Amino acid sequence: MKSDLNQISTASITYNGETTEVPVFKASEGPDVIDIRKLYGATDIFTFDPGFTSTASCESKITYIDGGAGVLLYRGYPIDQLAENSDFLEVAYLLLNAELPDRAERERFDTSITRHTMVHEQLKNFYSGFRRDAHPMAIMVGVVGALSAFYHDSTDVHDPVQRRIAIHRMIAKMPTIAAMAYKYSIGQAFVFPRNDLDYTSNFMRMCFAVSAEEYEINPVLCDALDKIFILHMDHEQNASTSTVRLAGSSGANPFACIAAGIASLWGPAHGGANEAALNMLEEIGTIDRIPEFIERAKDKSDPFRLMGFGHRVYKNYDPRATVMRKACHDVLDALGIREEPLLQVAMELERIALEDDYFVSKKLYPNIDFYSGITLRALGFPSDMFTVLFALARTVGWIAQWREMIEDPNQKIGRPRQIYTGPGQRDYLSLDKR
Ligand code: SDX
Repeated sequence: MKSDLNQISTASITYNGETTEVPVFKASEGPDVIDIRKLYGATDIFTFDPGFTSTASCESKITYIDGGAGVLLYRGYPIDQLAENSDFLEVAYLLLNAELPDRAERERFDTSITRHTMVHEQLKNFYSGFRRDAHPMAIMVGVVGALSAFYHDSTDVHDPVQRRIAIHRMIAKMPTIAAMAYKYSIGQAFVFPRNDLDYTSNFMRMCFAVSAEEYEINPVLCDALDKIFILHMDHEQNASTSTVRLAGSSGANPFACIAAGIASLWGPAHGGANEAALNMLEEIGTIDRIPEFIERAKDKSDPFRLMGFGHRVYKNYDPRATVMRKACHDVLDALGIREEPLLQVAMELERIALEDDYFVSKKLYPNIDFYSGITLRALGFPSDMFTVLFALARTVGWIAQWREMIEDPNQKIGRPRQIYTGPGQRDYLSLDKR
C-alpha cells in the first residue's frame, strides 16, 4: 500500500509548562488525525483511549464509514449500490484490488477461487475431534487455525506470491470449512464443492444437499444470501478486524490471523449479535411482551440489552440494516412465510424502540444483526450458524485488511501501552509475616 499521509497543519499539546507540536494529517473522507507517535518521547506521557473510541489505529483505503450520516463505502462505492448490482466475488475482488474487475480480471479471479475450494483430505480429521454438539464457531476457530499446518507453501507473509495464494485459499476454503462445520453438527456427510456453481450457490449446496437426491439451487435464496455476504464483508477497524491486524503485525501467518479474527467475532457484542438477536426475539415471543423487554433494556441494573440495536460508530441507521431489512422481506415473500411471527415481533420492536426517548436519545438504531437472524433462519440455517456465515463473509475484509497492514510502510508490531494504577515496588513478605 502506498502511504498517503498528507500533513495539513500541526496541533499543540501543552503539559507541565511544555508545549509539543504534533503533525495533523488530512483524511480523504472523514476525520483528520493528530499524529501522536512522537508524543511519549517528547512528553513522557501516554494518551488514554480504552476501546479506541477516538483513536485511528492505521491508515486504510478499503472501507469508509460515516456513522452520523449512515454511510458505508467499499473502496468508495456505496454499500447499497454494491448489494443491488454486484455479487460476492466481484466485491471481494474490489476490496482486494481497489478497483472493480474487467471481464478478463473477473474470469481469472473466479477461476482461481473456484480451483481452491477443496480442502486437504486430512483436514476432515479435525472435525471428528469435536463433540457433535460443539458450537460451529468453536469448530471454525480450530479448523481455520489448523490450515497453518497444511499450507506451509503460503505462510511467508513477506512473499507477495505466497500472500496472494494464501488470500485466495482463505476466501475459497471458508465456505467449504463452514459447510463442513454445519454438516458435522447435524451428523450428515460432507458435500464436496462443485466447480460449475457460483460461490454462494456452491455454499448453499454444500450445506443443504444430501447424497440421496439431487439438490435444486433456488436462485432467489442464493441471491439474498449473496447480498447478505456483501453486507458483512468489511467494516473498517471493528473488533475482529483489529484483532486480525494486531495478530498479523507480529508476522503470524494469515491462517492463524483469520482464526484470531473468528474468535473475536464470536462475541455477542460483535458478530455473535445476530444469533443473540434471534434468541432475544424468540424469548420475547409475542408483541405484547415487547414493553417488558424495552424496560429491561433501559434498566442499568439489568445486563439485558436489545441485541441488534446500537453501534459504536453508527449513531444513525446502519445502512446495511436497510438493505438487510429488504432482503429479509424478499426471502420471506419468496418462501411464502410473510406472516413469520418473529418478523412481526421484530418490526413492532423496531417501531416502539425508534419512538422511545431512551433509544432515540442514545442514538440506538437497528444494526445489521437485527434482521439478519430472521433471514438466515428462513434460509434454513440454525441460529448457531449465523456467526459462522458472518465470519465466512468477513474473511474477505479481514484478509484484505491483513494484506494492507503487511504492505503498509508505516506498519510496526502493535504494542499498546497502559496507565498503571497498581502497587509501587515492594519487597516479598515471607508467610510468617503476612
Ligand atoms: C457488530 O464495530 C463494528 O463495526 C461491528 C459490526 C461489524 O460489521 O464489524 O458492525 C458488527 O458488531 C454490530 C453490533 C452488534 N452488537 C449488538 O447488536 C449488541 C447490542 N449492542 C450493544 O452491545 C452496543 O450497542 C454496542 C456494543 C454495539 C456498542 O456499544 P458502545 O458503542 O460501546 O456503546 P455503549 O455500550 O457505550 O452504549 C452507549 C449507551 C449506554 O448507556 P449509558 O451508559 O450511556 O447510560 O447506550 C446503551 C448503553 O447502556 N446501549 C444500549 C444498547 N447499546 C448501547 N442499551 C440497550 N440496548 C442496547 N443494544
